[in-house]
Amino acid sequence: MMVMETNRLALRLLNMGDIDDMMQVWGDNDVMEFCGGAGTVDQELRSLRFYIDMYESSGISPFAVVQKDSGELIGVCGFNPPNNGCDAELMYHLKKAHWGKGYATEAASACVAYALKHPKIRILGASVDPRNAASMRVLEKLGFDYVGLQFFAPTGQDEPYYMMHC
Ligand SMILES: CC(C)(COP(=O)(O)OP(=O)(O)OC[C@H]1O[C@@H](n2cnc3c(N)ncnc32)[C@H](O)[C@@H]1OP(=O)(O)O)[C@@H](O)C(=O)NCCC(=O)NCCS
Repeated sequence: MMVMETNRLALRLLNMGDIDDMMQVWGDNDVMEFCGGAGTVDQELRSLRFYIDMYESSGISPFAVVQKDSGELIGVCGFNPPNNGCDAELMYHLKKAHWGKGYATEAASACVAYALKHPKIRILGASVDPRNAASMRVLEKLGFDYVGLQFFAPTGQDEPYYMMHC
């Protein structure tokens, strides 16, 4: 089911059949270098299940990002569960072949608009690995405010933390 559309992209709900494409994202060491490392097929099938269930219970989750021209699933963008006082955490992971074309900013802008309309999201947050300059730039372009360094439990380190009030 399509949830949002931009000039070049369609954002739709994830399904279990997305596993092959998602292994080119979550199974790729370069893509996941600053996001906890690459996972196995079994781990990422569990991630898909988790996110499908999360959408059904809360109406938020990462969405599949599909290039409209080709129909290719090029990554995910959307929301992780809350951390550090926010109501949802913005995330974006793209196949490496599609970096540097403005797709993360385009997909994430649509997700910010989605968050603005979602009744349960008042504060959107984002933690970034301090080495991930591209991700910090995306957040700046979206208009997030830099809050400061905050401890991020999943990685066990202090990370630059950004917020947007919706
Ligand atoms: C982070 C990521 C989503 C960015 O996707 P993208 O489609 O290339 O992003 P965009 O093109 O919309 O914007 C990237 C911006 O970062 C800038 N950038 C890229 N690499 C950079 C670097 N090493 N240092 C500084 N800026 C950098 C780009 O120039 C661009 O800014 P600009 O428009 O002002 O020129 C993509 O690299 C990715 O999937 N990385 C792996 C997963 C990840 O780290 N996700 C973030 C954590 S949830």
